[in-house]
Amino acid sequence: MSRGPTETAPWWREAVIYQIYPLSFADSNCDGYGDLPGVIDKLDYLSRTLGVDAIWLSPFYRSPMKDWGYDVSDHTDVDPLFGDMDDAVALIDAAHASGLSVVVDYVINHTSDRHGWFLESSSSRDHPKRDWYVWRDGGEDGPPNNWLSIFGGPMWSFHDATGQWYRHTFLRSQPDLNWRNPEVVEAMMDVAFFWLDVGVDGFRVDAAHHMMKDPRERDNPPAPSDHKAPWKDMGEYDEYLHLYDIGHPDVHAIHRRFREVVETYDRDVLTIGEMHIFDLPEWASYYGENLDEFSMPFNFHLMAADWDVPSVRAAVESVLWNVPAGAWTNWTLGNHDEMRLASRLPQGHDMIAATLLLTLRGTPFLYYGDEIGMTEASLGDAPSRDPWGENVEGLSRDGSRTPMQWTPQPNAGFTGLDTEPWLPVSQSHTTINVESELTDEGSILNMYRRLLRLRRESSALRLGSFMSHPASTDDVFVFRRESNEEVMTVALNFGDDPTSVTVGSGKVAFSSTEPRRRDDIDDAVRLGPREAVVVSHR
Ligand code: GLC
Repeated sequence: MSRGPTETAPWWREAVIYQIYPLSFADSNCDGYGDLPGVIDKLDYLSRTLGVDAIWLSPFYRSPMKDWGYDVSDHTDVDPLFGDMDDAVALIDAAHASGLSVVVDYVINHTSDRHGWFLESSSSRDHPKRDWYVWRDGGEDGPPNNWLSIFGGPMWSFHDATGQWYRHTFLRSQPDLNWRNPEVVEAMMDVAFFWLDVGVDGFRVDAAHHMMKDPRERDNPPAPSDHKAPWKDMGEYDEYLHLYDIGHPDVHAIHRRFREVVETYDRDVLTIGEMHIFDLPEWASYYGENLDEFSMPFNFHLMAADWDVPSVRAAVESVLWNVPAGAWTNWTLGNHDEMRLASRLPQGHDMIAATLLLTLRGTPFLYYGDEIGMTEASLGDAPSRDPWGENVEGLSRDGSRTPMQWTPQPNAGFTGLDTEPWLPVSQSHTTINVESELTDEGSILNMYRRLLRLRRESSALRLGSFMSHPASTDDVFVFRRESNEEVMTVALNFGDDPTSVTVGSGKVAFSSTEPRRRDDIDDAVRLGPREAVVVSHR
């Protein structure tokens, strides 16, 4: 008997993973901040109503919340805003009972300056933990070199009490750990062991290529005037070429060590490294030469591509071409650091984007609220809660982090009617919300549910091969997915005019704009304006 691909694939290859930003998902105790019991209450929505397979939780660890949890002061405890350790255990158990795997954030490049390790390290120059962080004497008239923090200003801050500078890739309250110190490596591996023992199924590794920098700490050269930021405009940070302050090759040894740790467990553990690398061979190097580093580096290439067929097609084909043999990739269109998908794309295109995300070969990551079409919230003149927006104008991430919209009621069912949520609920909640959309057959939520069901039932869409179809044009992207059991063709019309493409005989299994469309196809499938279809050739 032949073994189908489903028998051997680790869980995360077949999964659709839903990112929860716990502060904004569901507030069970009405203090204005989302919490872990709130997430437990919504597991049924995730596993049954929507139909995803796993959740990734942004940090819920103890934190002074200077970067909303990405500044961890205790990696093995839960911040009281979110509940306590019992709630974390209960959430993981309840998720498993609902059939959902749980991925947690692993913030390793830095800690909070309130972390016990930093308090010790900064207590005196000869404390045994001094070398757990990166301390330097200054240059002639200031910091040791010209490196800049991603969140604005120099990457070095002076510590008056001990007369040295410490390095911080992000905020000054997020000092960088010294990963060249083996004690730090092992202490952080213990954190991974801790959460694996608690029962998590994977880690999303934050800022995974930042922590090793040029050992000689050379100045970054200025960027030429025509230099284009590969990702998004980041102000002063873009004035330099980041040759020396990111991604030193020594980082690979750390990732290999981390992989060894997770492999001591007798289950498939997903490790996915966050890395904004757009040079594809370099990006692919994070799988490891012997596929012994990350299960996969996060793939942001689709998010970085211009939204037109030639650019999207080029991004898809070049990523898949560069994934090493035997490895697997992932796709994503949104997260807590970027503007909401529905506001980045022209109207009507979020449905095309969703179809693409859920039919490509690779694990889809879906950001909370995108499944109901949440738009970037406009927060008016309110001061930015996000420190990036506080430091650099125009870079606040608040607009994509507003509370999940469950109902049309005031506060959108996120928290009590009389509670002030930590970030305002978007005005759009009166129409864009789970409750209303569930009753509307043509809503984006119901479209996601149909797509997720189709993916779940289709071995071709979950695990099948990918082939770009020669029928693609500048307006229509066509590709084929194929498994031992079935063949599916996906056709995405980015254009505003109806058209048709030749795909061979079959039956429409999904349409983004006509929920009940199931017509038989002779040879050519018709596509309405901005319509995405999946044709089954079974
Ligand atoms: C990552 C996170 C981001 C955070 C930063 C510092 O990029 O996604 O939200 O601010 O790391 O930890």
